[in-house]
Amino acid sequence: MEADRIKWNRRYADDDYQMGLRPSQFLAERIELLKTLCPGRRALDIASGEGRNSIFLAHHGFQVTAVDISDRGVEKGERRMKNEGVSVDFRTADLEEYTIAREYDLVINLNFLLRDLIPKEVAALSRGGVILFETILDSPNLQGIHTSHYLLQPGELRRLFIGEPGTILEYDEFPDGNSPTARILFQKRII
Ligand SMILES: C[S@@+](CC[C@H](N)C(=O)[O-])C[C@H]1O[C@@H](n2cnc3c(N)ncnc32)[C@H](O)[C@@H]1O
Repeated sequence: MEADRIKWNRRYADDDYQMGLRPSQFLAERIELLKTLCPGRRALDIASGEGRNSIFLAHHGFQVTAVDISDRGVEKGERRMKNEGVSVDFRTADLEEYTIAREYDLVINLNFLLRDLIPKEVAALSRGGVILFETILDSPNLQGIHTSHYLLQPGELRRLFIGEPGTILEYDEFPDGNSPTARILFQKRII
């Protein structure tokens, strides 16, 4: 949606990295497991922002496609990628209209919620492929102003994956603290 592109381009306008340079903690803590589970190393970063998670995966030997609506975020990701001597296929696109045209061994979906995309992420996985997903959980502790539609409700993330062909390897909700989140690690059925 054009309004999202404009909003996120404004947030990313500065040369500073709004989301920081370090990858998501969940991704960083699971990287060795992901390398074991995803020997094919083809990864898709959903709503990649300024590229921090894509670049981290590229440093770990993944071939990453990164998709985000913000051309400014994509530009910052590309600049950092060149500075760090890694390669990521950054693409500017609206995920509400995006077709995932090939197969991936790993899909990461961090700090972004588009419920209808989840079955498409699962469909795009290779057999035994993995989705690592974490985003904001609605909770009385949540700080700042948020659009309620973009917040997970308690138990919702698990429900979104139940019925998908595969196994929930890990599921957690963290309602306490300033940044409540829910997270899941899902593996597509192997046969
Ligand atoms: C909170 S940021 C998360 C960025 C990244 N996943 C991270 O953790 O650093 C949310 C991202 O979603 C992107 N976004 C919002 N709506 C989108 C849409 N319809 N299609 C693609 N990207 C979108 C924004 O541009 C922004 O980069």
